[in-house]
Amino acid sequence: MKEIIVLDFGSQYTQLIARRLRELGVYAEIAPFHTPATEIAAKTPAGVILSGGPSSVHEAASPRPDKGIYALGVPMLGICYGMQLMAAESGGKVSPAKKREYGFAQVKVKSKSCPLFKGVKSNFKAWMSHGDGVKQSASMKITANTSDSDFAAVSDATRNWYGVQFHPEVAHTEEGKKILENFARGICGVKGRWTPSSMLDETIKNIRAQVGDRQVICGLSGGVDSSVAAAIIHRAVGKQLHCIFVDTGLLRDGDRDRVEKYLGRELGISIKTNDASALFLKRLAGVSEPEKKRKIIGNTFIEVFDGEAKKIKGAAFLAQGTLYPDVIESISVLGPSATIKSHHNVGGLPEKMKLKLVEPLRLLFKDEVRSLGKSMGLADEVLSVQPFPGPGLAIRILGEVTKERLTLLRAADAIAREEFRLSGWDRKAWQSFVVLLPIKSVGVMGDGRTYEHTVVLRSVDSSDGMTADWTRLPHELMRAISSRIVSELRGINRVAYDITSKPPATIEWE
Ligand code: XMP
Repeated sequence: MKEIIVLDFGSQYTQLIARRLRELGVYAEIAPFHTPATEIAAKTPAGVILSGGPSSVHEAASPRPDKGIYALGVPMLGICYGMQLMAAESGGKVSPAKKREYGFAQVKVKSKSCPLFKGVKSNFKAWMSHGDGVKQSASMKITANTSDSDFAAVSDATRNWYGVQFHPEVAHTEEGKKILENFARGICGVKGRWTPSSMLDETIKNIRAQVGDRQVICGLSGGVDSSVAAAIIHRAVGKQLHCIFVDTGLLRDGDRDRVEKYLGRELGISIKTNDASALFLKRLAGVSEPEKKRKIIGNTFIEVFDGEAKKIKGAAFLAQGTLYPDVIESISVLGPSATIKSHHNVGGLPEKMKLKLVEPLRLLFKDEVRSLGKSMGLADEVLSVQPFPGPGLAIRILGEVTKERLTLLRAADAIAREEFRLSGWDRKAWQSFVVLLPIKSVGVMGDGRTYEHTVVLRSVDSSDGMTADWTRLPHELMRAISSRIVSELRGINRVAYDITSKPPATIEWE
């Protein structure tokens, strides 16, 4: 399939460029800025986009692409730093902007015939973030400007080179999607509609080729990524896939059942459950310090997983639900030194057991994994699971984790999740859960005074968990959750709602 290659010069928006194109049904992949032109040519891309970046072309150490990319003969679009680079490297002049533009600017299209602006309003609001600007552009002609920059967009129609100083990939840029679509479809001539499911057949073929007749181990967590990864690998190699599910005893109500019943019995995936809940509880006894809890859980998990994995004869591969954002992070401008997130790498297990990795989702974003799972016919209850931390309910029980506290929190959390589901808010909020506090407060029930636990309801809106805001839940839903928790559960007489964003707070309480 023809694709667009996005060369990454370190912009915080690089991922967004690929995302927007994929939303338009155009397959786009990100590559580090220093990727050799021969490697890019081998992919026969339909076009190349040079991303923005924090550097200035005047810095000696500023990132530069392999000069060979300018000779590929495919259409190119430079965004912000990418445009300055194209201008500077083709005989133009770049210098500090007469006024730095940060935030919104009004872009005026000067060249209506420029194919980048086909069907685009002649005056639109765009997101800018730059200190340098193009001053002279040799062969490139100005196609748009703003009150503060003469060169808001440029083109060289003979070479099919285009540049924009603003960020079309940012959702706030009016006409941004249209501009990217004009580039990909109109200028690069990409036809057809890419969807995540169009990768399924090839992914299955690749897994078969990689695995051959050997055995694959996969750790299931109950989350979307590991479930979809297991389902794909199962489709590819069937009984050669051996899943391990560690029941830490720190899971939510229904988590284990969902994995065993749906993935195990309905899809026929071989799953070995190790119920290690007693071991986890024993190790956590008397421990209140959050980091200590996390360490104990992490180490115990590896120990149990490792023990199960060793029982699988002839295992040569470990499957992981690594997603594209993690892959990009590790191949970013800084090179492959950036670490892959630790929870995606089950405690160094692949190295220790000399296992190779199978990562069927490594080219997909989270929402694309869901849509791929849907196209495979996977149940909604598996695909709509909210993110859940590895250490589970243990980091939502402040203070010591005991069996009684776990039972109480699990019941309160189940009530909240049921109400979220019934009201449809489980789809609107990014993550919603209950936290059990180690304090008691006074209440009154019937004729009697009570002195019982307080729980906190936490619900956040987020797109990646890095930042979050508390969800503006309807009062009716909050009322239903609060009154059900207090009346149905013995031991809780007060429910509070957490109205702190991240930052400064974190999503989890520990
Ligand atoms: P925080 O609390 O850091 O959480 O704002 C951000 C997101 O990450 C989840 N989280 C974890 N996920 N292992 C995981 O797999 C962990 O140890 C872990 N800690 C937090 C959290 O639920 C939220 O979605």
